[in-house]
Amino acid sequence: MEQTFIMIKPDGVQRGLVGEIISRFEKKGFYLKGLKLLTVERAFAEKHYADLSSKPFFAGLVEYIISGPVVAMVWEGKNVVVTGRKLIGATNPAESAPGTIRGDFAIEIGRNVIHGSDSIESARKEIALWFPEGIADWQSNLHPWIYE
Ligand code: TYD
Repeated sequence: MEQTFIMIKPDGVQRGLVGEIISRFEKKGFYLKGLKLLTVERAFAEKHYADLSSKPFFAGLVEYIISGPVVAMVWEGKNVVVTGRKLIGATNPAESAPGTIRGDFAIEIGRNVIHGSDSIESARKEIALWFPEGIADWQSNLHPWIYE
């Protein structure tokens, strides 16, 4: 079953949005497969965002991500990468639809509350980076009232 990496950024943690965000993914029907609260070092944040290292906002982005604890999670379910991105909303909260996490809780692109993998390949890489210890497999049955 498909998995994605979701991270509640420091602003989401500080603003008390952890429960709300987890609740949205749970209510959608996805399974929580890994979760931890941690503060990452600069080099780690740079590795996570390595693809963006040439961007003008890179330094500020890294500073923001290391500014406080984040909640790192693995969520599982059918099409969870693409659907997770839909739950999250557009990168710039000014363009995120109401009803999405960023649309409901964020205003600025540099404080957009949450990260979600943008492809199955980046999900695989990000899960390996953030959960090198691996993910315990606690559930294999699909909920019959969610999956046909
Ligand atoms: P990106 O991977 O393009 O977006 P997403 O998080 O939706 O996958 O960018 C990563 C983060 O970088 C983004 O969540 C917020 C930050 N960012 C800026 O601060 N300024 C910008 O102009 C862009 C494009 C992103």
